[in-house]
Amino acid sequence: MTLDEIIKSRRSCRKFKPETPPREMVDAIIEAGLWAASGRGLQSPAIIAVTNPSWREEISALNAKIMGKDYEKGHGPDPLFNAPVYLMVIASTRNATAAYDGSLALGNMMLKAHELGLGTCWIHRAKQEMETPFGAKLLARLGLEGEWEGVGHLALGYPAEALPPPEAKPRLPNRAFYI
Ligand SMILES: Cc1cc2nc3c(=O)[nH]c(=O)nc-3n(C[C@H](O)[C@H](O)[C@H](O)COP(=O)(O)O)c2cc1C
Repeated sequence: MTLDEIIKSRRSCRKFKPETPPREMVDAIIEAGLWAASGRGLQSPAIIAVTNPSWREEISALNAKIMGKDYEKGHGPDPLFNAPVYLMVIASTRNATAAYDGSLALGNMMLKAHELGLGTCWIHRAKQEMETPFGAKLLARLGLEGEWEGVGHLALGYPAEALPPPEAKPRLPNRAFYI
């Protein structure tokens, strides 16, 4: 696919096969995120590939709770759609553009995953997650110091076969200007 085809054919995926994609694919997606531009070139984002079931369960439950919903494995919808990999992006707030930097990393990773035939969906509320005791626990687990902001998650995996790719909405008019 050309870059234009990748950009225009990517759609959010909300149903995944249970198989975890191979490490090389996940590495290649993370690499695309790490190469995103960042404010003042400070490379503020860090990307955490969460494959461990207990960490994924904890994130799903916390994410649902922040939305005011209950989630317990097998009961209620998983806000991360039972994806086998969560790519969590956090960014160091020593850089004033942390959230922008992290968003660009997420965008790069969505496109790279699509190029590789994997599905993604950006899942919100990582910011609030990092503001709970979970944030401190995660940073301790990673050995990261300083202040970090949650930016977003990508639910990542092989798209479930049964799902036809959803049609994209037409692009809203009057959103591009030349002056
Ligand atoms: C900042 C941001 C937050 C999003 N949060 C969620 C979310 O929490 N859950 C979800 O299912 N989709 C989420 N999405 C995915 C959007 O719903 C999706 O990108 C949009 O409907 C357009 O569809 P498309 O990605 O297929 O083009 C988010 C997307 C962005 C960019």
